[in-house]
Amino acid sequence: MRRAAAFLALLLCLYWMRAQGESGGVTENDITQTEVQSEILGVKTTSHQTNITPDIWAELKELRDMVIQQSVELRKMEQENTDLEARLNTTENVVEELKRENTVLEARMNTCENEVEELKRENAERPKVAFSVGLTDAGAVGPFNTDITLQFSKIFTNIGQAYSPTTGVFTAPVNGTYYFRFTGFEDRSTNWLGIKLYHNDKRITGSYDGNYDDGTVMVSNGFVLQLEKGDEIYMVLTPDYGVSDDHNNRTTFSGFLLFAM
Ligand SMILES: *[C@@H]1O[C@H](CO)[C@@H](O)[C@H](O)[C@H]1NC(C)=O
Ligand SMILES: *[C@@H]1O[C@H](CO)[C@@H](O)[C@H](O)[C@H]1NC(C)=O
Ligand SMILES: *[C@@H]1O[C@H](CO)[C@@H](O)[C@H](O)[C@H]1NC(C)=O
Repeated sequence: MRRAAAFLALLLCLYWMRAQGESGGVTENDITQTEVQSEILGVKTTSHQTNITPDIWAELKELRDMVIQQSVELRKMEQENTDLEARLNTTENVVEELKRENTVLEARMNTCENEVEELKRENAERPKVAFSVGLTDAGAVGPFNTDITLQFSKIFTNIGQAYSPTTGVFTAPVNGTYYFRFTGFEDRSTNWLGIKLYHNDKRITGSYDGNYDDGTVMVSNGFVLQLEKGDEIYMVLTPDYGVSDDHNNRTTFSGFLLFAM
């Protein structure tokens, strides 16, 4: 196509140079059909050097028109090509940008997945510790003339088995922050209600109340405590004081691990 166009252009050029040589110079735009015809006539009448017939001139003219039309189309196509190339460049840039963003997102995704795995592992490894126990169904306990560790024998919950019903002692399985609470009940008016919470050999609280009205009394308290693994938490009945419990579960002791440290 291009080659044909070049050839036609060459032909046209030859024709035009010749025409210009004979007419003393006309521009391409000046060559209208009538001019070409009159020129051809002129050529025929004035020149003996050429024997190109009008048919050939007409054909050349037709070829010239074709070439002009094709070069117009070519220019149009070239412009379209440039436009397409620009759009392609833009698209390529967008694709590159998206690829970059994708890589960044992928990296973030990987980080997130790793963090989720880590949290899952941590959660699975996190010790689960919680207990809730009641003192007894047998009624009155004490008074005694010495400290007695209260053995809460009714187990409501003992996840992790950190509380021992045989000793009444909770032993911290891990370093951490724990919460403990207790409630003591007494319905005897002959003794005061008096119980103490211990952390190892350190007393955390003594909770006392006298049953003056011959009804019932209760004491209650709660603490967040920081424990090391192996630390012991337990309730003690104060000498000469009493505590009671029955099927109503009113003297209770509970605790759980808030978080390991
Ligand atoms: C398209 O990108 C190429 C390479 O960067 C460049 O040479 C060309 O000029 C660009 N074309 C357009 C139309 O922007
Ligand atoms: C528990 O805490 C103590 C005191 O901070 C520390 O010396 C000990 O190494 C910790 N133990 C564990 C198992 O983390
Ligand atoms: C005390 O606890 C026991 C054991 O869980 C339960 O069967 C009983 O109903 C509780 N008593 C009351 C008064 O809720």
